[in-house]
Amino acid sequence: MIILSLFHGGLRHGLLVTKGLRCCAAALAVSLCTVPLAWASPESLLAKMTLSQKIGQLQQSHLEAVTAEDIPKEVKEAIRQGRVGSYLNINTVAVANELQRLAVEEGPHGVPLLVARDVIHGYKTIFPIPLGQAATWNPDAVEQGARIAAIEASADGIRWTFAPMLDISRDARWGRIAESFGEDPYLTSVMGVASVMGYQGKDLSQGDSTHIAATAKHFLGYGAAEAGRDYNTTYIPEPLLHNQYLPPFSAAVAAGSASIMTAFNDLNGVPASISSYLMDTILRQELAYKGVIVSDWDSVVETVVHGGAEDNKDAAYKAAKAGLDMEMVSTSYADHLAALIQEGKISELEIDQKVLRILRLKAQLGLFEQPYTDIARQAEKKHPKFHQTAKEVAAQSLVLLKNDVPSHKKAAKLGKVLPLKPGQKVALIGPMVDAAHDQMGTWAMDGEKQDSITVLQAFEQAKVKGSVQYRYVPGLDFSRDKSTKGFKKAIKAAKWADVIVYVGGEEAALSGEAHSRANIRLPGAQEALLAALKQTGTPLVVVLMAGRQIELHDVLESFDSLVMAWHPGTMGGPAIVDVLTGVSEPVGRLPVTWPKMGGQLPMYYNHKNTGRPPQSRPFIMMDDYPLEAHQHSLGHAATHMDAGYLPQYPFGFGLSYSEVHYSDLAMAKRVLARDEAIRVSAVVKNTGLRPVTEVVQFYVQDIAGSVTRPVKELKQFQRVVLAPGEAKTVTFELSHKDLMFFNAKTQHVFEPGAFRAWIAPHAAAGKPLTFTVR
Ligand code: NOJ
Repeated sequence: MIILSLFHGGLRHGLLVTKGLRCCAAALAVSLCTVPLAWASPESLLAKMTLSQKIGQLQQSHLEAVTAEDIPKEVKEAIRQGRVGSYLNINTVAVANELQRLAVEEGPHGVPLLVARDVIHGYKTIFPIPLGQAATWNPDAVEQGARIAAIEASADGIRWTFAPMLDISRDARWGRIAESFGEDPYLTSVMGVASVMGYQGKDLSQGDSTHIAATAKHFLGYGAAEAGRDYNTTYIPEPLLHNQYLPPFSAAVAAGSASIMTAFNDLNGVPASISSYLMDTILRQELAYKGVIVSDWDSVVETVVHGGAEDNKDAAYKAAKAGLDMEMVSTSYADHLAALIQEGKISELEIDQKVLRILRLKAQLGLFEQPYTDIARQAEKKHPKFHQTAKEVAAQSLVLLKNDVPSHKKAAKLGKVLPLKPGQKVALIGPMVDAAHDQMGTWAMDGEKQDSITVLQAFEQAKVKGSVQYRYVPGLDFSRDKSTKGFKKAIKAAKWADVIVYVGGEEAALSGEAHSRANIRLPGAQEALLAALKQTGTPLVVVLMAGRQIELHDVLESFDSLVMAWHPGTMGGPAIVDVLTGVSEPVGRLPVTWPKMGGQLPMYYNHKNTGRPPQSRPFIMMDDYPLEAHQHSLGHAATHMDAGYLPQYPFGFGLSYSEVHYSDLAMAKRVLARDEAIRVSAVVKNTGLRPVTEVVQFYVQDIAGSVTRPVKELKQFQRVVLAPGEAKTVTFELSHKDLMFFNAKTQHVFEPGAFRAWIAPHAAAGKPLTFTVR
């Protein structure tokens, strides 16, 4: 994978840093500025600070200014007086540099600011939404995306991002599922670590100003919002919290995430931003986390609304005592900490610890040596190589969910609909064929739609190369469009074509923060348009762009092929066309379980078994119930009468243009002593005609435990490249430590006993073998 070596270590630029002097002419467009370096160490700096300057370091304020001239007087004054430690939402180098100039030259002790921004899945070059990145099952792809985002963002002076979001997401109604790596603790951990590495590099303190600090968020359990309504209450009992929701954060802490953000939710009766259980017991004590804890936007004062604090002063007291370092936007610390110290409720020593963590982060980022960003670095943004990487990552995020031989006789001769055949006439239909803005998805604040290459533009490029011919008729103008006035023309184009490529789904604004949906079907008149297109008899390929799984129960039958493209980012169009035409192989796999109906939610593969697991018992679908049927429960199981018990597609699922056969699941030894390596292998063979990258998944079930264990859990996976006809033996190795879990007393334990293991293409496939660890 391409370009990272080029950018590792950063594109060197021309600011001079000499002992005792900073020459920042290029950055500031002023002749020369000299700043005496009063800097020795965070501790020595702290010793010089007044209490109000210390409290100032704990404040993160919000500023939206485009030019240095836009910076309001009050903001300048706040910096000069040392009342702010960080600003968020800066996105121009001119503003970043001017803020830093005010801080280091006119503020007390020359303490630089932390300039922060939500750089979530790309800055200027937009990568697929995180859920799409998780679908690559390729941590290198995630790392590259974060690395490029860091280079572009740091070129504008941004040195701190609020990503990755590591909230386990089991409910597609929740709008922020788009921003997550899905439902699985292991996959989320692997992707979260890759993301932290991409933003921060191996060591943030190496002095490379193209790296930025990461934030693992939101601590903790935010994704379990009741009914998928954002910000909603969560109840997550131990040990579920420790076994499912915590692991990605433990992994991010171990990988050195510079900061952690608290969450908006009330968890088990205590709002997360004032929870000493979360911040002190878990983060500081259990995980020995040393970095900065920042609140979410206003989340400290919102604890008053939750009913967790009497007023803002009480909120500040509780947050400070619980372990929160920096307050985002609201000002309860600035307004009340001094009084709380005077009243003896909080000690200055406690404040010192918080300030030190913030000063250390500034030091780690090298901001004391170099607070400014060279304006020459502007040229680094939107590098063609970044776009090339974005295209490759987007292509890898596409998940082929269905690919049938069409029933239509003439078309059936050509076999499966995808990849498209050279010379085929394609009707390009749907509201997202040319959706330059919407293909970027949620949290793409700095992406510019004129940089996006849409599916339409990519088809045009392919046409120029002579590989396709097409007609474009959108049928609907946007995803929520309810008007059928465009149907007639779309149907005409469909009748002309050999194959319909429909690109629809959800606009960017239908997922993301505060954008939850109760009904997760295709919005607008899309289902009606798809039904009308099917009537033409022309084979129907559906490409969905969406921030979540979409309920397709009533329409899926009519699709010949289905590709899930998430919101694929700037280069979504070419990535999709490459996969549709077979230039790239589809390699993505679902990072979430795909429900048949919204009413099945929350739905996830690593659930508990229940006493009446549905697989083993017959059940009757609602329409088959006799009238006036007797009330009885015998023989019934954990199902819905109208949806059954299976999802539409299981976790880990995804097709390719080839076929892979799994066999020979084996273990040399089935009874092992505790310290022996647990090695399980299987043979995977490409029995098709095209190369594949197979995501070989390894699941384990702990059959019985002191607390009941999930039906299976992903333990590892490998991406295995197989040429046509090629077979490989794939071996996974675990130690008994990988089988440990948190028991009812929140102790991390290994319990000897019997286990099942699967090596399979997805969570619902394969037969397990059983082994025992003593
Ligand atoms: C609120 C969101 O919950 C959080 O994820 C984000 O980083 C902050 N706002 C800052 O914009």
